[in-house]
Formats: sequence, C-alpha cells, structure tokens
Amino acid sequence: MQKILIADNERFLSRLTEDFRFGPAEIAAMIGHFHREMERGLAGEPSSLKMIPAFVGRPTGAERGRFLALDLGGTNLRVLDVALEGNGKARIEAADRFVIPPALMGADGERIFDFIADSVKASFARHQTDRRRSLKLAFTFSFPVEQLSIASGKLIHWTKGFTAAGVEGRDPAVLLSEALERKDLGCIEIAALTNDTVGTLAAGSYADPSCAIGVILGTGTNACYAERMARIGRLAQPASSAGEMIINIEWGNFDKVRRNAYDLALDAASSHPEKQRLEKMVSGMYTGEIARLVIVEMVRQGLLFRGADPAWFATSYALTAEQMAIAAQGGDFSAPFGIGEVTAADQTSACEIFRIVSMRSARLAAAAIAAVVLWMDKDLAHRHAVAIDGSLFQKYPGFKNAMRSCLVELLGDGAARIAFMPAQDGSGIGAAIIAAVAASASAPSDCRTIK
Ligand code: GLC
Repeated sequence: MQKILIADNERFLSRLTEDFRFGPAEIAAMIGHFHREMERGLAGEPSSLKMIPAFVGRPTGAERGRFLALDLGGTNLRVLDVALEGNGKARIEAADRFVIPPALMGADGERIFDFIADSVKASFARHQTDRRRSLKLAFTFSFPVEQLSIASGKLIHWTKGFTAAGVEGRDPAVLLSEALERKDLGCIEIAALTNDTVGTLAAGSYADPSCAIGVILGTGTNACYAERMARIGRLAQPASSAGEMIINIEWGNFDKVRRNAYDLALDAASSHPEKQRLEKMVSGMYTGEIARLVIVEMVRQGLLFRGADPAWFATSYALTAEQMAIAAQGGDFSAPFGIGEVTAADQTSACEIFRIVSMRSARLAAAAIAAVVLWMDKDLAHRHAVAIDGSLFQKYPGFKNAMRSCLVELLGDGAARIAFMPAQDGSGIGAAIIAAVAASASAPSDCRTIK
C-alpha cells in the first residue's frame, strides 16, 4: 500500500514537472513573440505589451535635491525622504512602511488616496517634518498608467489585487493631490508620477550609467528600458529625433506563453481574468496560489497530508510566496493551515511542488530579461546592467541562481554580459531621481544619447 502511494506520488510529481516545463524551444519561441509584441506596442498597434513612453530619459547621476517619495506597490505603501547628492549617490533620510489594508484594494478609490495622505501625515508627525519648507513629491504608482507628461497620466486598468472604483481612466496624481488637500497637506507639489520599474531603472543608472533596464520581481512583475526616440513610432515626433526615452513595457500582460491547467484555473478565478497572463505565472502574488491549487489536487487524490481535510486548503491565496520560501529553507510552512502532523514525505513533496512552481517563474523572468537585452543589442556586443528590485528576486531561495542558469543555457558565454544589479528601494529612490530630472530637464530631447 505504502509503495503504491509512493509510486503514485512520484507519478504525480513527474507529470507536474512536465506541466511546468519551460525548455529551450519554448524560450526561443517566447523571445521571438516578445520582440514582435514590442515592435507592435512601440508602433501603437494592438499588442499585449503596452510599451508606454515614460516622458523621461535616464538621469546623468548629477541630479541633486531633497524629495518626498511615495511608493505604492502591491502590498505596502512606502514613504521616503530622499536626498540626492549629485554624485550618483542617494541617501534615505527617513523611511516608513504602511501595510495597505486588503479591504481598501476593492473599496472606493478616494479611500485609497485618503489612506496615502494619512500615511504621509503620520510619517511627517513621526519625523517632525517641517511643513513650511517647499516639498516636492515623487509618486511611484505601480500600475499601468498611460503617461501624459512626467507628472501626469491615466490609469489604464488596475492589476494585482486592486479593483477600487473610480480610479481607472483618471489621473492618479490629481487624485493624490486632491487627497493631500483634503488632509491639509496642500503644501506638497507632485513633481513626478512614475512606474516602479522606471524608478528602479533611474536608481540603477544614477549609480551605474551602463544600466538601461529596470525590472520588478515582487508582488507583480514588469520591466522598462531606455529606447531610442526614433524607434518609438507611437509618439508624434520628427523622424530624426535623437536621444532616448524610458519605455514601461508592462510585460506582466504578455500573453504568448503556454499555460497549464493550474494557470487557467487561477486566471478564471482571478479579479482580472485574461489580463496579466505572464504576471500570473511569475510574480509573488500568484506563485503561492498556483502551488495551493496543486496541493488541493494532491490532497484530493490522497497523495499528500493523508487524512487532512481538503477544506483547510480551500481559501484562495491562503498560501503565500513567503511561506513557500520558508519551506524551501527547511521551515514549517503549514501552521496557518492547521495541519496536525506533516510527515517528512509530505514536507518533501510540498518542497518539490514549490521548487517546480518557483523555478518556472525564475526561468520565465530570465527569458523576459533576455528578450529585452537582445532587443537592445542582438549580438550582445555590450555589457548590460539590469537593476532588479522585488521580494521574489531579493528573498526567494535559489531564485537568482535559477535565473542565471537559464540565461547561461540560453546565451552560453554571452550570459556573462548580463549583470543583475540588486536595487533595494530602487523604486522609491528612483522616483525622487525622476522628480529631479523633471526639475532640471525641460524636454526628452535633453536626455542623453543612447549608445
Ligand atoms: C504590475 C503593474 C506594473 C508594475 C508591476 C510591478 O504588473 O501593472 O505597472 O510595474 O506590477 O509592481
């Protein structure tokens, strides 16, 4: 009986390995599709990659000033007081983190912006910020925003867990400044509105001028890069335009990638079905949910946690990427599920599920990075520093190594030309840098010329 169970368990896990395989042929195909979608997006044609111009180029490293940076990501709001020293160095003078109450994500939009303004107030009180000095604010709003200028834009649609009414189609900078007024913080001027990837790239290239790609691998996933103006057909501009502009790819929405039954089930039950297909296979908000769906199936088949009540795993999103990371380091991930006894065999099987799910995520992320690098430099003639922030990249055991091995498999020696540059807090610091660029440069043509 025991032997049959082990054999069934192994059969299940090897089928799972096949379901989640993302091998060389698929990677090559993905890169080809990715380039075609980039091309369409840049030309303003329908594409799953939005390719949004950020109305700013990379900083020079000489930008200076003091800025308040607000970073609204997927789960936290960060309030930072950032000092730019002008020599490629930035200092965080004060930092506070506020957890976004999950109920707010689906509430009325105004409440989200009131929460942000209240958090700024709390942070000011904590650090006794002098409100009489002029305060320039850089707002990192980590959602697909069609930028209209460096400090304004329109939310195209929510992603991740957000569904709040009254924000899609509107300008997050205006909504924020109205909330600041309501809370008696009208002294604050919004100098920049930026995506977290753009902030991460700005922070990376402020410190290392060879950095031209910014990536987020956290609750959500996305990237941006510095593009030649002449290649951005969707912007009305003279054909001879020089210089560069950062493009927010919104790669989380890439849709030319094979999904398995678990991906399809997750998508169908998600708050934004059929949107953000790649993100749902890669980012930290979803890897736990994919793994939970696999566990539910194994429990139902009597292959895992025998005798456990499947209802324990019935709550969507109950398993998080953090718990997977704990298990990957040998810790007990099961406490929140109330499973009495976890046998060594159960622990091994669960870890194997987590490995399979997270390694596909790392390989997809590496393939997407390779696609962007090859778009910019098809022969890999230059070195590329890629600034990366986000908890999956920073904290998930083995994630970086799996990304690196995938690049080596794909590019051989050429992989050494792609350097990962961890950019902790990059999105917040980078937003401050963008605000400084906004203050010093009047037009994108002032931006430096791409090599
Ligand atoms: C989602 C958002 C995107 C953001 C990413 C990482 O994909 O749509 O704008 O950059 O999450 O936070």
